[in-house]
Amino acid sequence: MNNSAITRHDDLLVGIGGSDDAGVYRITDDIALVQTVDFFTPIVDEAYDWGRIAAANALSDVYAMGGTPLTALQMVGWPRGRLPFDLLGDVLEGGASILEEAKCTLVGGHSIDDTEPKYGLAVTGVVHPDEIFGNDGARSGDALIITKPIGTGLIATGIKRGVVEQSVRDAAVASMSQLNAGAARAMRRVGVSAATDVTGFGLLGHLGEMMRASEVSVEIEFDAVPLLPDARRLAEEDVIPGGSLRNLEAAVRTTRFGDLDRIGQILLADAQTNGGLLLTIEAPLANALLQALEDEGATGYIIGRVTDRDFSDGPTGVINVV
Ligand code: CO
Ligand code: CO
Repeated sequence: MNNSAITRHDDLLVGIGGSDDAGVYRITDDIALVQTVDFFTPIVDEAYDWGRIAAANALSDVYAMGGTPLTALQMVGWPRGRLPFDLLGDVLEGGASILEEAKCTLVGGHSIDDTEPKYGLAVTGVVHPDEIFGNDGARSGDALIITKPIGTGLIATGIKRGVVEQSVRDAAVASMSQLNAGAARAMRRVGVSAATDVTGFGLLGHLGEMMRASEVSVEIEFDAVPLLPDARRLAEEDVIPGGSLRNLEAAVRTTRFGDLDRIGQILLADAQTNGGLLLTIEAPLANALLQALEDEGATGYIIGRVTDRDFSDGPTGVINVV
């Protein structure tokens, strides 16, 4: 399907063929549409929080391209005989609160009867065609920066199994419902060479896509990677989502883990929901970016550096953990 005529157009600037965050389609010389869609089943116990997280997650791919969200359509699957509509109201209200924060207008949507609840958004944003932040611009020597701690997959699984404390749950929910808008403003202000967001494929998966698209390799320093509280404990106690294990299976093909033990490997592969932006930037500008992130109410952590492409393990580029 990726090679068929419908996936190509002179004005399609970022399409389905690559592995970037969102599609980008040029309307005029000054305006391109940024389009993305995301929805999923409940990730936390509270309906309102689930709505907030799903909406923030759906918006994230627009931010990761350097775009500004404009409109959203909501998609709902609801077991109408089994769950009260009041609860759906809470989900939609949570989502609406995030759209309001993002100044993104809700223009419609669609709902169907479903065996399990599902909620998410199709989001349309805009970006200047010359100011698209792709995942293909990382250059050897760049610093690698992540804007949120990882571990939300482990904690969401811990919540479902009832083995995390309220404070840990709250920290994860706060992180998952935090918009990447501030981080995106900082990245646009300072200028980065490549950007993506860390979501379902985890840090290693999305980093791998970025390295492949940019035709470079990367060195990440495990001790510099920020972790949410309890993420390590949950990995040690085998409270691990299936998606994170699948991510790790896929990542071993392109990652050299060095001395890192399996717990560390699971942490790096953990599937994230609305994780942070993953940014590369010329090393001398890294501190300016950290400052800009702070100014915009976001956080930033230097976790490694981009290196020359390493062909020794095949054509895909390599992640070296040190
Ligand atoms: Co993305
Ligand atoms: Co997405």
